Amino acid sequence: MEENFKLTDQVELKESLTTKWQAPSNIALVKYWGKHGVQLPANPSISFTLDACRTITSVKASKGTHGFSISYDGVEKPEFAPKIKAYFERISSYCPWITSYHFEIDTHNTFPHSSGIASSASSMAALSACVMDFESELTGTSLDYHKMSFLSRLGSGSACRSLKGAAVLWGEHVDTDGSSNLYGIDKSDLLHPVFQDFQDTILLVDKGEKVVSSTVGHDLMNDHAYASARFEQAQSNLTILKKALKDGDLATFIKITESEALTLHAMMMTSHPYFILMKPNTLSIIEEIWAFRKEMQIPVCFTLDAGANVHMLYPSEHKTAVDGLINNKLTKYCQNSHYICDQIGTGAKKC
Ligand code: DP6
Repeated sequence: MEENFKLTDQVELKESLTTKWQAPSNIALVKYWGKHGVQLPANPSISFTLDACRTITSVKASKGTHGFSISYDGVEKPEFAPKIKAYFERISSYCPWITSYHFEIDTHNTFPHSSGIASSASSMAALSACVMDFESELTGTSLDYHKMSFLSRLGSGSACRSLKGAAVLWGEHVDTDGSSNLYGIDKSDLLHPVFQDFQDTILLVDKGEKVVSSTVGHDLMNDHAYASARFEQAQSNLTILKKALKDGDLATFIKITESEALTLHAMMMTSHPYFILMKPNTLSIIEEIWAFRKEMQIPVCFTLDAGANVHMLYPSEHKTAVDGLINNKLTKYCQNSHYICDQIGTGAKKC
């Protein structure tokens, strides 16, 4: 199946190519945690694509010796090089033409670098969009979004969910035709109107670097005592969540989304070595959200990544009420009172 993504036709190389793309981050509802082989997920996941948190990447390709330079806002960033080098090595058998080019890459994130928000999904998605834009120019064919997602996955698993559609499902799922471990598929057709303008307010509890890198984190699922039960649970949670997304069933959405977040953290707490990635303020925010939901009967819930920050998810019609909650009760738990207002978006775009 991977073979289908190998470009075998000879392409006529151009002297130089330039492009610029932006790609958003995404927030998983059913979490990807555990992988095998070359970036293959241990279980299927689904995410909402975000809008405001984006990476904007411009690339100039010049025919010549293969290599690259990487800068952020024009300033060279050698610390980003190893990940990009590994990415180019992984994709070169699928896009052999890249070995005839030198790439000058410049990136910019719309969210602060020190926000504790991982940029690997948006940055790998934006770079893959640039690569596929070049490939489409060289081959004279239209953009292949599946291959774009496939290449992104080789850079960072969750990146393959940041290309196309408001909701993206990645990984073989027993109840989803066309689902694949190799790339994400657009499932925005699933979304009931109540989810189409969903808000994600990211409460920045800890803006530091990740305590556990994703590579180490995924690795913890190898030999984990609960691994097989967890992978099966993700399959069934995804089936239940898909129905909730379609029916506009907010109660079930909340139940599955919050349980998935807590399960992700439970997996980290019960692995060897074990980690607690929540902070006291993470728990305080969760308790405030639960109290507010009960008192106001407003369907707001939380999810977490592999860190202490809290993503608060809710329909836009409740934005004013939730803003009140944030300002009155939640900013005191955020580092420097910082939070980011985001919402569901549609994917990568050419600039
Ligand atoms: C907790 O995509 O960052 O955010 O494939 O090693 O780059 P790599 O991992 P990464 O893992 C994300 C894990 C997660 C859950 C999710 O986004 O599904």
